[in-house]
Amino acid sequence: MDAIIPVLTIDGPSGSGKGTISRIVAARLGWHYLDSGALYRVVGYAAGRDRADVADPAAMAALAARVGIRFVTDRDAEPRVLVDGVDATDAIRTETAGAAASVIAAMPPVRQALLERQRDFRQPPGLVADGRDMGTVVFPDAPCKVFLTASAGQRAQRRHKQLKEKGLSVNMADLLRDILARDARDAERAVAPLKPASDAVLIDTTDVPVDRVVERVLAVLPASIRG
Ligand code: DC
Repeated sequence: MDAIIPVLTIDGPSGSGKGTISRIVAARLGWHYLDSGALYRVVGYAAGRDRADVADPAAMAALAARVGIRFVTDRDAEPRVLVDGVDATDAIRTETAGAAASVIAAMPPVRQALLERQRDFRQPPGLVADGRDMGTVVFPDAPCKVFLTASAGQRAQRRHKQLKEKGLSVNMADLLRDILARDARDAERAVAPLKPASDAVLIDTTDVPVDRVVERVLAVLPASIRG
């Protein structure tokens, strides 16, 4: 049954434009959208909420298996994230939740606990799955796979703009250093490292406007799937 529900995987490093592009593409297709990074962030947030030990893989895996996660979508706006019924949309985006997510994401039992939860998002008429290992591990049989890249400098600039919009000011050099450190951690970890699937189409988004990237991603889908 699952195999006939199409999945478009969109993987890439942070700041590559995955979130923005994936949401627009999902809205254009009328498909469901999975923000897998949000799941790791929810576990990081819930660990802080429960004062649980983020260095304990068994405790984190148990939390990943039991925490209630619901996405509430309103058109193509960023979905609201309910954690055990409480709106945690902003709380999961803090640097603290992100840092905890990055540590937790390197733990095999946590990734295992989230595997089926991610696959459950594969519902008709189709799914756009955004993350680091969507095309390699979670949906290896997806018929369409994209890997987005962008120069580290441009990714740091995008992050800077996002933070500025939230009224936060961060030094560009610090942002660039953090991005390079996170890239290295995501790419070098033993389980599900950040890398393109062998059958993924690589798209460099450096200096490419969002609507052009969206068109390129949509062009990856065969006409029979696009409908
Ligand atoms: O995309 P993001 O910044 O919201 O992701 C948060 C963390 O989760 C980041 O450190 C990478 C990790 N992650 C992962 O390991 N696998 C995924 N499929 C998605 C995110």
